[in-house]
Amino acid sequence: MRAPSNALSFKRRLLRWFRRAGRQLPWRATRDPYQVLVSEFMLQQTQVARVAEYYPRFLKRYPTVRDLANAAPGHVREAWDGLGYYRRADNLHRLAQAVVKHHDGRVPDRPEVLRTLPGVGPYTAAAVATFAYERRAAPVDTNVARVLRRAFRPRLGNGMRGDRMLRELASAILPRRGKAAWQFNQALMDLGATICEARKPECPVCPVQTACRTGKAGRGRGLGGVSERASVERAP
Ligand code: ADE
Repeated sequence: MRAPSNALSFKRRLLRWFRRAGRQLPWRATRDPYQVLVSEFMLQQTQVARVAEYYPRFLKRYPTVRDLANAAPGHVREAWDGLGYYRRADNLHRLAQAVVKHHDGRVPDRPEVLRTLPGVGPYTAAAVATFAYERRAAPVDTNVARVLRRAFRPRLGNGMRGDRMLRELASAILPRRGKAAWQFNQALMDLGATICEARKPECPVCPVQTACRTGKAGRGRGLGGVSERASVERAP
């Protein structure tokens, strides 16, 4: 897929904003693949503020992938207390055991390999690849998907599914250098969580408004928000 015409301007503005105003979150201060992996499992179904509260406690108890692999299942669930959706704790525990057994204790860096681990889907695989290893991978969660749909209003064509199309779009606009790709991916998450929110996008204060196909057209705030469906145009 080719990058849309507004991609370059969007990227520049987003990166400039992130370097100035990006959120400082505990899992952004590390590139330790195990620590990043733990954060992504927690963030799958839990709000950032809550994860920020429980994440340090879990890592204190299980500082390395080997510590987690050797733990008793009941204890891992206990350490997960407060986060809910305990299936994630079970998967993370089994994942740690698989990493020790099949990958010599090292969390893999390639999304295709990460995907073979318990509880890891396309989103988490790409998130670990970029956030731990600064690889050019594009994690698209619901927040990022919404930002991309609004900013680029991509057309669905050739029978391609929407989620796959958005992953291709995200890959097409990813910066070339790994460090910039890391920042860009984190920035998309911050924009979706703090400004380009589902119900009330704050277009007037958005750092990418002039590079956004929705914000520029004045279709953001004031028109009852932007319908997610309406912003995916179907090819005729
Ligand atoms: N949600 C999932 N991954 C995240 C990250 N790295 N920062 C903020 N929110 C997230």
